Amino acid sequence: MSVHVIDHPLVQHKLSIMRNKNTSTAQFRQSLQEISMLMGYEVTRDFPLTYEEIETPLQKFSAPKLAGKKVVIAPILRAGLGMVDGLLALIPSARVGHIGMYRDEETCQPVFYYYKMPAEKERMVILTDPMLATGGSACDAIARLKEDGFTNIRMMALVASPEGVKVVTEAHPDVDIYVASVDEGLNDRKYILPGLGDAGDRIFGTK
Ligand code: PRP
Ligand code: URA
Repeated sequence: MSVHVIDHPLVQHKLSIMRNKNTSTAQFRQSLQEISMLMGYEVTRDFPLTYEEIETPLQKFSAPKLAGKKVVIAPILRAGLGMVDGLLALIPSARVGHIGMYRDEETCQPVFYYYKMPAEKERMVILTDPMLATGGSACDAIARLKEDGFTNIRMMALVASPEGVKVVTEAHPDVDIYVASVDEGLNDRKYILPGLGDAGDRIFGTK
């Protein structure tokens, strides 16, 4: 397992826009999409290449091409949806699954309500959710994917808490986690500090 913190200046700049409480819904959504594309570049960095003989206008050339890496993007609803389009821009042939889950406001425990993934279990899953707070939602989503037969899973979050990272890495040491920031911690309502607030509400303008 490893946690990859993507500290690229463009990612950090756009994350700061998202953290600002005065950022509009449109700008928040746009920034998340752009960050997801930039992070996707790192998430896919180790995809294997194969070589194909082609001819440029000048000569023959053994050209590198993706070795048919098959991907499913799996957003945890709702907020994970905000990261899908950025990844699809990079990997247009990816399938998209959906994992419906919300965090109970009283207990802060995840509650499942929907699951739909493609049948081909050999595909790599990129699980998306901008917020990794207690880690409960990510842990349960990964467990559900494994129960379903998926074995190659990566998680792309935006902001994580140190507690959440520990919980997920201990429960699922085989899953690499990509984040833009590991923040200070959680408040008494299990929100990430400094964080960016409720990601789902900010993406969809529901508060
Ligand atoms: C948020 C977030 C994660 C979860 C993180 O979703 O998008 O899924 O909370 O918290 P955890 O790490 O403590 O489990 P929320 O329940 O607010 O649902 P929403 O995306 O539908 O707004
Ligand atoms: N869910 C969010 O959207 N934000 C947090 O800080 C924690 C959970």
